[in-house]
This record gives sequence, structure tokens and C-alpha cells, in this order.
Amino acid sequence: MNVITNVTSDLQSQILDAFNFRHATKVFDPDRKIKDEEFETILEAARLSPTSFGHEPFKIVMVQAQEKRELFRPFSWGANGMMNGSTGQLGTASHFGVILASTAQTMTAGSEYLQEHYRTVKHLPDEVIGMFNEAYGKFQTTDHNVTTEREITDWSGKQAYIVLANMMTAGALMGIDSCPMEGFDMDRTTETLADHFGMDTGKWKPAVMFAFGYRAKDPEYPKTRRSMADTVSWF
Ligand SMILES: Cc1cc2nc3c(=O)[nH]c(=O)nc-3n(C[C@H](O)[C@H](O)[C@H](O)COP(=O)(O)O)c2cc1C
Repeated sequence: MNVITNVTSDLQSQILDAFNFRHATKVFDPDRKIKDEEFETILEAARLSPTSFGHEPFKIVMVQAQEKRELFRPFSWGANGMMNGSTGQLGTASHFGVILASTAQTMTAGSEYLQEHYRTVKHLPDEVIGMFNEAYGKFQTTDHNVTTEREITDWSGKQAYIVLANMMTAGALMGIDSCPMEGFDMDRTTETLADHFGMDTGKWKPAVMFAFGYRAKDPEYPKTRRSMADTVSWF
């Protein structure tokens, strides 16, 4: 196991530089492609992301073929360069994908899918699986009251957004630009994933899209954020 002990001020600057560098890139340089090993690092950051109960209720669909990307364009205004009138993220990103969120079919406490996940991914013994079923069941029905189809899919979507954030930060640390996108029609995206990508949309629903590549130009506006005092309260 790698233990991180050497936290220098250089490292802190590097981290903050990456966060300042990252912006929601609308148009990428279409001629610059991300190296395979660098994109694999971004995907590994996704795979290693934490999820509630370790249920990993997400899946990533990469959409690299331009004709496949074009299927999303008519109803994905947020991936269309927004006001830039260009071919936007869909037309210019080196890498484009959709993160899907697990639905109630698999993420309801006690589901067959979860039993398999506990056994084959988490390698839990039967008695611990029983404890997980009980604790997660209570979490769903009492603690967080996440029981309807929509609530469960949204809960999975929350986990998907952690994955998204880690991917973008990993990219930024390597000087790779990105854009998170939820500017799309949910129903039509779901239909497209079923009809053209063979996704079982009973089990998976789109949560958010992402694009990675290298900016075509610097952002038009400086980054704006609330002050630290308005953002954080200490007690
Ligand atoms: C969940 C999420 C969804 C977003 N959807 C879109 C989108 O559809 N299209 C887009 O161009 N930007 C989108 N953005 C980018 C935000 O508008 C942007 O992050 C915000 O204005 C702050 O700017 P910055 O990221 O450049 O610092 C989204 C951001 C997040 C986190």
C-alpha cells in the first residue's frame, strides 16, 4: 500500500492550480487527443471512487464514434457548445461519455444483484451480507427514505457525481480539460441508450455526461465563486 507522507506546499499548490485550471470547457481542440494511458488514469480514478455502502451504482458508457455522438445532439443542448454556435463538446472532445445510475431494480435492499455484488465483488461472508441487507434496508426505508423508483435512481446518481468529480480532478492534475453536462433530455437520452447502445434501461438510467480533451481557447470569463466565509461555517 502506498502511504502518502510527503505533503509539501508544492503539492498543495499543484492541487489548487489544477482546480483553478479546470473550467467547464465548451469547445475542445479537435486535433488534440488524450493519450490512452492518461485516459486510463481518469477511468481508474472513476473506478476507485467511493460509493455509499460500496454499492458502485454506476456504469460508464464511452461514446467515441462521431456518428454515435451525433445521436445525442438533437436533445443535448448542454453538450452542443451552448451559446457558441459551434459543434461543442459533442463534436470536439477527445473523449465523451455518459455515466449511468443504477435503478431500483438492482439497488433495492435485498435485491439479487446486491447479493451477487456482496459475494463476488466485496467478498463478504454470509453473516456480513445479512448485516449489510439489514443496514441498507433500514437506510432506504427509514434513515434516508429512499424507496421510490425515482428516489433510488437519484441516490445512485449522487454516487455517479462523485465519480464525475474525481474524473475531472484527475484530468485537471494532468492538464486535461473537461466538461460535466446535464443539459440533455433525460427520456430521449434513455431511449437512445436502449436503442443504439444496447443498455438495459430498466437497470440503468443516464445521470450525467462528460467530455474530456484540450481547450480550443482560454475561458472567456474569469472563474467566479462565493467567498470562503460564505461557503464554509465553522463551529
Ligand atoms: C452537474 C453539472 C452539470 C453541468 N451541465 C453543463 C452542461 O450541460 N453544459 C455546459 O456547458 N456546462 C455544464 N456545467 C458547467 C457549469 O456551468 C460550470 O461548472 C459552472 O458554471 C462553473 O464554471 P467552471 O466549471 O468553469 O468553473 C455543468 C456543471 C455541473 C457540475
